[in-house]
Amino acid sequence: MNTLDETNIPVTEPERQYYYIAKAKQYVAEKSAEIGRKLTFTVTTFGCQMNARDSEKLVGILEKIGYVEEADEEKADFVIYNTCTVRENANQRVYGRLGQLGHIKKIKKPHMMIGLCGCMMQEPEVVEKLKKSYRFVDLIFGTHNIYKFAELIATRFESNRMVIDIWKDTDKIVEDLPSERKFSFKSGVNIMFGCNNFCSYCIVPYVRGRERSRNPRDIIREIENLVADGVVEVMLLGQNVNSYGKNLDEPITFAQLLSEIEKIEGLERIRFMTSHPKDLSDELIDVMKDSKKICKHLHLPIQSGSSRILEKMNRRYTKEQYLALVAKIKAAVPDISLTTDIIVGFPGETEEDFLETMDVVRQVRYDSAFTFIYSKRTGTPAATMTEQIPADVIKNRFDRLLKEVQSISAEVCSVHEGTTQKALIESVNDHDTNLVTGRLSNNILVHVPGDDSLVGQIIDVDLKDCHGFYYTGTIHK
Ligand code: SAH
Ligand code: SF4
Ligand code: F3S
Repeated sequence: MNTLDETNIPVTEPERQYYYIAKAKQYVAEKSAEIGRKLTFTVTTFGCQMNARDSEKLVGILEKIGYVEEADEEKADFVIYNTCTVRENANQRVYGRLGQLGHIKKIKKPHMMIGLCGCMMQEPEVVEKLKKSYRFVDLIFGTHNIYKFAELIATRFESNRMVIDIWKDTDKIVEDLPSERKFSFKSGVNIMFGCNNFCSYCIVPYVRGRERSRNPRDIIREIENLVADGVVEVMLLGQNVNSYGKNLDEPITFAQLLSEIEKIEGLERIRFMTSHPKDLSDELIDVMKDSKKICKHLHLPIQSGSSRILEKMNRRYTKEQYLALVAKIKAAVPDISLTTDIIVGFPGETEEDFLETMDVVRQVRYDSAFTFIYSKRTGTPAATMTEQIPADVIKNRFDRLLKEVQSISAEVCSVHEGTTQKALIESVNDHDTNLVTGRLSNNILVHVPGDDSLVGQIIDVDLKDCHGFYYTGTIHK
């Protein structure tokens, strides 16, 4: 039944992948005919928005080759875990779920295919462990060759053995492959891949490779196409968007890119993450100040408030520089909402260092903060630092920090009570179907009475009551 010209497989991308999409589609059709129904898939995503966006690309391919989505993982014919390895507990969750899946495959569904990809797969010891103790896995690939998904599926159908394809790094960016958006009205857009910062605790530069920026013309074209397809809000994605464009043949700054994106007609809202404080330019602050579309929200991870710890973390800014930057941003964009990431218990962190972090939290007054317990990642410089902090000390600091963050966040959030603001309605409320949930420019959620006809629309809402980190309100008449 194979009608493709096997003597002439394209060598250039994305053409080669379109060849394999057609080929995989034939295999899927044959299998469907054999079992008398459509084949189904589930993609489970761990980790950050980069992974979420990558998963949309996986789903795009799966749907193109004839699989249909199945919400229940235990029923699906093909289960894919797109993994994260930023902290140890992320890995543990994957192994736990994988163990259960292996059990189901063994006792109930021998034909089930299991695929693993994402950041965890870039660690050689993980792949070794999978090869040894998780033989039931069918397909393993990494972060650099996700665009080859169709080709790998075709290979798996042909070989009947575990297929493993991991690349150490890449300088390649393959454009124009299918992707299936989770939301019709908003989308993540990669503007760059990888990270060159090597913060001493962080594994991301090792698993995502060196920094590569997409060509601005490709980004603009993608967003124009998204807008033509109903998207009103984009989230520009990169580990450090502030260093966007530095290594392009024709260098361009992130601020310049934003100005170009702002001009796209029909696009209503622009978000981006993540900003590294060391690279946040005055030019960017100016662009944010004058923009009609950039949302009033900036995620600006501090990690620690102690300059001594920041130096050991290789963050390349001090507490004072961070606070000065925050003051500058707040002066330029007074209604900006600031959020952050904080790590507690980095090696050598003393009570005094921790109190510096608490001090920053009190001074900046974040809308919200993601707080993390330091996790030792093998291969990073911090893992071999002496003075790892005992768990009970960390726990105590973590609890104090969380309490402070939450009480400040409730106060900061409540200042908008009684105002009318624009919200992009994202969904019907899970708990009460008479309500819809919208997102304000500052990233806070609001629940208002309404129905699914409002989803995807930007409407004025009156914010009545603040409940800590979200609002209830009504549609503005
Ligand atoms: N590129 C982003 C962060 C990506 S990882 C940035 O620089 O801000 C997301 C967050 O995970 C980080 O901001 C950090 O707070 C946390 N993180 C990274 N490595 C960690 C580790 N080893 N232990 C605990 N938290 C970590
Ligand atoms: Fe990790 Fe630092 Fe890169 Fe963020 S900037 S991904 S924390 S190394
Ligand atoms: Fe995790 Fe990879 Fe993102 S390690 S946080 S999924 S870049």
